[in-house]
Amino acid sequence: MMKQFDVVVIGAGAAGLMCAARAGKHGRRVLLIDHAKAPGEKIRISGGGRCNFTNIHAGPGNYLSGNPHFAKSALSRYRPSDFIALVERHGIAWHEKTLGQLFCDGSAKQIVAMLIEECAAGGVENRFGTPVTGLERQEGGFRIDLEEETIRAAALVIATGGKSIPKMGATGFAYDVAAKFGVPVTETRAGLVPFTLDPALQASLQPLSGIGIASEIRCGKTRFREAMLITHRGLSGPAVLQISSFWQPGDEIAVAMLPETDLAAVLIDAKRENGRQAAVTALSTHLPKRLAQYFAEKAGAEKALADTPDKALHRLAASIQDWRLKPAGTEGYRTAEVTLGGVDTNALSSKTMEAKDVPGLFFIGECVDVTGWLGGYNFQWAWASGDAAAEAL
Ligand code: FDA
Repeated sequence: MMKQFDVVVIGAGAAGLMCAARAGKHGRRVLLIDHAKAPGEKIRISGGGRCNFTNIHAGPGNYLSGNPHFAKSALSRYRPSDFIALVERHGIAWHEKTLGQLFCDGSAKQIVAMLIEECAAGGVENRFGTPVTGLERQEGGFRIDLEEETIRAAALVIATGGKSIPKMGATGFAYDVAAKFGVPVTETRAGLVPFTLDPALQASLQPLSGIGIASEIRCGKTRFREAMLITHRGLSGPAVLQISSFWQPGDEIAVAMLPETDLAAVLIDAKRENGRQAAVTALSTHLPKRLAQYFAEKAGAEKALADTPDKALHRLAASIQDWRLKPAGTEGYRTAEVTLGGVDTNALSSKTMEAKDVPGLFFIGECVDVTGWLGGYNFQWAWASGDAAAEAL
């Protein structure tokens, strides 16, 4: 027997849970399907286990998309304050860490539990651990085949996320569904992802592995000022993840370590005060010693400061504060926090997320070509796009 629902949501991640809960609360009969046994797995591991669930500064300017205006409508209707109110209604304690990023005081599992409770309150039915085996458009809606049953629904919401972290069950399902129904998809690539380096540079940086330092990283006209981490695989840390979303293969990046400090002035002053000391000694008052040694060696500035011309000191400072390099690539979807690109926003209503040419078919969350910066912006998009669709269902 075919079971009938008003709405089927495929994908019980951030966007799907939000959309199902809200549609359920609006009185719709909702079925939420996921091939994973547990819903909200990315929420659970997010923010180092504390879930950076929103950013109080979230606005359209914090997102990359083929159409930078697309996210405006949904983001303005479901705001960070709406999600904070929900979190507070559930008695979940939270704090602002930095740069408007809000985290749970306790565990990210509280956010998953909250969304599951919200779904239950809206009478949402679940099929978890259940792959979709077939999907067809039919008169007045859609037919969704599961292994042991067939479902009919007036509306179908695709919330299966992007390709990042396939080990956690990420698939290109949303893009396949889009293709099946003739909805265009823009090119996808890994975003918020560590850089890899060419083998010679990587080998030379090996002794610096584990060092984190405040940096400003620039690629073209975009720059981010946060921490950078040198790892045994390349470069990581928030500043690197941020800029990676703007980087294209072949692009050069410019790294300014300690952007708030004028290292050339530090070296020149140190030379005047005590010319017998080495550049490394002067730099080590500001930088980790291993890092100072690496750059001093590279710049050939290992003698006493008194014996090092000012020009060479300026060159040494520039090698640290205008370090130019071309990443070899990124770690790809294996470790990327998000997928850039996706379902083409030109084919969707920015108000409802419905496909313009396929009535009843909606795409929400990360599968859409809207990708946030690091810092709670991606969850805010998941909540806002999920809510926008739910309002229209
Ligand atoms: P999401 O990936 O959450 O959910 C998709 C769901 O669809 C999953 O449950 C999956 O199992 C299911 N699915 C996939 N294919 C399917 C198929 N074929 N059939 C059925 N179901 C299928 N963002 C942020 O704002 N703050 C943060 O702190 C973090 N931290 C973070 C850490 C890590 C390690 C990662 C990888 C990512 C983050 N993010 C983040 C990004 C954030 O997790 C991401 O943007 C959202 O989870 C996207 O929500 P969606 O609901 O669109 O996809």
